[in-house]
Order: sequence, then C-alpha cells, then structure tokens
Amino acid sequence: MSRPDKHQLSSLGFNSLSVHGGNEVDQTSGAIRTPIVMANSYTLPYDPSMKDWSDTTNPSYTRNSGHNQICLQRKLAAMEGGEDAAVFSTGVAALYGIFFTFLKSGDHVIVGDVTYEAVWRLFAELLPERYGIDATFVDMGDMDAVRAAVRPTTKLIHTESIANPTTKVADIASLAGIAKAAGAMLSVDSTFTPPPFFRPLELGANLVVHSLTKYINGHGDAMGGVVIGAKELIHHIKADALVDLGATISPFNAWLITRGSVTLPLRLKQQFSTAETVARYLETEKRLAFVTYPGLASHDQHELAKSQFGGRGYGAMMAFAVDGDPDTQNRFVSHLKVITSAVSLGHDETLIVHVGGGGRGGSERYPENFRKYGHLRLSIGLEDPEDIISDIKNALALTFPEQAA
Ligand SMILES: Cc1ncc(COP(=O)(O)O)c(C=O)c1O
Repeated sequence: MSRPDKHQLSSLGFNSLSVHGGNEVDQTSGAIRTPIVMANSYTLPYDPSMKDWSDTTNPSYTRNSGHNQICLQRKLAAMEGGEDAAVFSTGVAALYGIFFTFLKSGDHVIVGDVTYEAVWRLFAELLPERYGIDATFVDMGDMDAVRAAVRPTTKLIHTESIANPTTKVADIASLAGIAKAAGAMLSVDSTFTPPPFFRPLELGANLVVHSLTKYINGHGDAMGGVVIGAKELIHHIKADALVDLGATISPFNAWLITRGSVTLPLRLKQQFSTAETVARYLETEKRLAFVTYPGLASHDQHELAKSQFGGRGYGAMMAFAVDGDPDTQNRFVSHLKVITSAVSLGHDETLIVHVGGGGRGGSERYPENFRKYGHLRLSIGLEDPEDIISDIKNALALTFPEQAA
C-alpha cells in the first residue's frame, strides 16, 4: 500500500502533511491510524550489552523514546521545516531543555523583556542564582538595544515571536543576524505563531520551541512541548535534557497531539480571521481602555507583522482592558457566557484571563496602559465571531448598566 513515508513528508503541502504526518499503517493489525503504544519498554536485541543506553532513535525505554513520540517528532519537524524535533512533557520542559543543554556557568543570555512567566523567572532568578548564568532582559522591538546587550560571553538570544501577553512582535531575521555576528544561537518561542503561519528557522533561527499544549494540539486536553532544529542540536537536547532529565511526554499525550494537529491549518485560518474581526470591533468599543493586536494599524509593530508574517494573518492572541479598576475587569469577565475564564491559549474555545498589571515579573516590563489598567488576555477560539462579539457586548452592558453602548 502506497502512503507517504517519512522521506516523502517534506514534499507534501501543509494540509496533506497535517493529515498524514506521523501516521502509519499498523503492521500488526492493519489499522490505518497509528495506535497508542503505552509500553514502558521495547524488545532488546539478542546481545544488548553493547547497546547505547542513551539512544533516542530506536526505542528501548519510553523515557528516552517511544513509538508515539517518534511519530510526533517526525511530523512536527516536517511542519516547522527543521531536520529533527525533541518532544517533551510540557512547553516549559522544552524551553528548559534548550537552556539546560546549551548554557553553562559564566554564559550570558539576551532574553525578551516580556516573555512567558516561567522563562522570566528562570532567567531573573533561578539560572543566575543557582547556576551563574547571566541574563539581560531587552526590548525585542529595539535592535540597537539587543546589539548593545551582546557580550563576549553571550551564547543565546531567546525571544517569543509574539510576546505573551503584550503582543510585541520580534524581528526574527534581524535577531538571527545579531546572534550570528555574536557567535550565539537564536531560539524562538513560536507558540503564538505556529506553522504554516510562520517558520522562524527560515529566517535564521537555530531552534524553535512550541508549547504543544496550545495551538498545535488545539483541543485543550493534552500538555506537551517541542524543540525543532538541526539534527545535531536536537541530538544534544535529547541526550542531555530528555534522557537525563526525564521530562518525557506520555505516549497518550503524544498521540493526542498528533491527532489534534491534523486540523491545525484549518483551525488557524478560522481563528486568525475571527481574531481580526474581534480586534477591529474591540477597537471601536468606547468602554475599553485599550486593545493591542498585531493586526491593528494602531499596533506599534503592525508593519513589521505585516511583512514578517507575509499577509497570512496576525495570530489569534490579543490583550485589552475595560476602562475601570481591577474589580471592573472581574465583573466584566463574570458576565461572559460564551468566552471561558481560564488560563492557557490556542484552544478550540475562546479563553480570557484577567492577569492584572504585571504578572509574576512585576509591572515595570509592561507598557503603560497594561500597568494602569491591568489586562485581559484573550485567546480567540473556533466559535462564530458574532457570538464572541455579542458575548463581549452583553458583558459590557451588564458591567456598565448606566451607559448605553
Ligand atoms: C508563549 C508560551 N511559551 C511557553 C508556555 C509554556 O507551555 P506549557 O504550559 O505547555 O508548559 C506558555 C504557556 O502559556 C506560553 O504561553
């Protein structure tokens, strides 16, 4: 039976790749979907004594590698246009996998001043205090500031493609140039901008990381993370951070994410289109203090977003605040019926979270309007845009009963 095998995946269009990638006919049962292999161990050769016990290519023990992990890795590497991928139990484990593998005492890292909170804490507290790794937090929209932060010991520049939660857009090609000139690597957390929307490796990034928990699985029912890049780099990450740290994804979650990612291109198309509609509506709402979304002309990096993302959209993440104090934000959220108040993002359902002024790293790193009003982070899902907008309108009417719309 002729099906695209692992060597042909890269020649497929993205939709076909999303369907067929990582899926194989099961040779035992003939099932046309890859089964979930929950075994901890795989059969050993006749003489295992010469075996490389850290091997992650041929499964022997599921912490190192397993059938469903391998299928997911192959699919994600092809989707992102990288040579290989290492999957982990969570996005944070994947991020830590990069930092643990490539940094040592005395090294310096340049990190975006606004990043996912766990990354902020790793570089603000844990890695400097415990391991002597220095970090400079820099505005990733200011290339002169990034250049000025480079030291002889700089080993890594790490940024989010679109920052969580401020939606600042990083100029990946420029950052790749700065990293290369400095002899450092560039790693990009592309969780907000999954393929086929954006592929940072094509612009010179060395490593791309995703929280699979978000868009790539897309259904809010499995956690995972991945790092994608050149075979040699991924080999190091697997050997150091997977085999010997052990943040392995469960075969069940790897299977769920392989399945969830089948619809990734369709979901992104709808979510991005709805996000633009909702953001344009939010910008007209007088009862809001601000709204930030890279697809709006009012966004500081709208032009960069337009050229960098090639007109394919602007993501489906935005932040805004109701014009009022923190309790007003809470009252507004409590009146929402379609939009769910919960953390996470990139799910099939629209999610909102009242993060407050500054989150874990304090408020100084956020723009002034975030500091003044706090913010609501909105992750657009797959509902009809009309339902999302009318939910917001209804909640605003209930929050401000004295004002007509
Ligand atoms: C941009 C970004 N990176 C990484 C993570 C961490 O992913 P996980 O929750 O799967 O560990 C998150 C989580 O929200 C995120 O938003």
